[in-house]
Amino acid sequence: MGLDNTFWAKPADYVRALEPEEPVLFFSPAILQATARRFLEGFPGLVTYAVKSNPDAVVIQNLDAAGIRGYDVASIYEIELIRTVAPGAAMHYNNPVRSRNEIARAVELGVRSFSVDSGSELAKLGGLVPAGAEISVRFKLPVKGAAYDFGAKFGTTAEHAAILLAEVEQMGFVPSLTFHPGTQCTDPQAWDAYIRTAARIAQDAGVRLARLNVGGGFPAHRVRGDMPRLDDIFRLIDRVTGEAFGTERPDLVCEPGRGMVAEAFSLATQVRAIRDDAHVFLNDGVYGGLAELPLIGLIDRVDVRDSEGRARSGAARDRIVFGPTCDSVDRLPGTLPLPADMEEGDYVVFHGMGAYSTATVTRFNGFGVLRMATVLSLTD
Ligand SMILES: Cc1ncc(COP(=O)(O)O)c(C=O)c1O
Repeated sequence: MGLDNTFWAKPADYVRALEPEEPVLFFSPAILQATARRFLEGFPGLVTYAVKSNPDAVVIQNLDAAGIRGYDVASIYEIELIRTVAPGAAMHYNNPVRSRNEIARAVELGVRSFSVDSGSELAKLGGLVPAGAEISVRFKLPVKGAAYDFGAKFGTTAEHAAILLAEVEQMGFVPSLTFHPGTQCTDPQAWDAYIRTAARIAQDAGVRLARLNVGGGFPAHRVRGDMPRLDDIFRLIDRVTGEAFGTERPDLVCEPGRGMVAEAFSLATQVRAIRDDAHVFLNDGVYGGLAELPLIGLIDRVDVRDSEGRARSGAARDRIVFGPTCDSVDRLPGTLPLPADMEEGDYVVFHGMGAYSTATVTRFNGFGVLRMATVLSLTD
């Protein structure tokens, strides 16, 4: 992504010096490593990172340096990336549907942990994966609390999960369970229901679980008044696992994407125009770094800078905000409160932008070039 070796003190310095016309993602390795340590110290089990949320090599390098030793991978590309950037780390291939060639290649590349949510995919794995590998059955529940429903695509019912889990053991694999409560899951209670159901599934299957993977879903700080309660979630997971499994407590695994990487990046966009003093047009939008906003809602952790890097402090005015392409869906959801004294050429900096931003950028209409810069601090 064109990261150079210069370290800037803060985004405002970069903006003042370079007045960039392309969107810029500012990366703070210090914040990423601090978040990784928070997971490593607080989560009662193995912390892995969901590579899909931000697969940039510099992210993996910093997570590796902070002590992350496992990765949730969804494709051969991601497996090869981890083999290169963090050799020796555990890889959990937790995309429950894979082609036969992908499974064979993953085995060749050293993957020994897979997930399934169907009998047909389990049979496929049975023929290709060496005995002794871990197979985690993914189940889903109709629980609320996440930004959108992950159960719409993956995960089977608790009843079917019990059948699959028993089969996993009979086939000579290490039996585990996995779930994903849904991304940006702000309600810790979602984990409660899932963990208690996992214990029932294991009991119904007559299987002692090796590991329980409690997914990603750990929330990032997206809305000013709503700080994520990571430590509460960690404590709840620990307590409920003890209560539900008693002496048969499995080892725990988590695979955060958003909760790990979001806070380490801020996205600076430039105001291309304020049309007739009303709508704001930015140089990035839903086909670029802001792709996720229509799916999971606006981020209101925004500050606006003039081209000298000074913060605008006018009273907030709700604005409709468009991205740079000619497509009318290229619009941020709802309205965004922005300082009334904002001008063309200013920078609107969105905080908490590290997850599902770089990974999903397109070049639609010729836009989508993101610069990246490393900073010591993301704020003044
Ligand atoms: C299997 C799996 N694990 C973890 C994650 C990461 O989720 P999040 O970014 O909500 O933490 C995802 C996201 O799609 C996933 O599919």
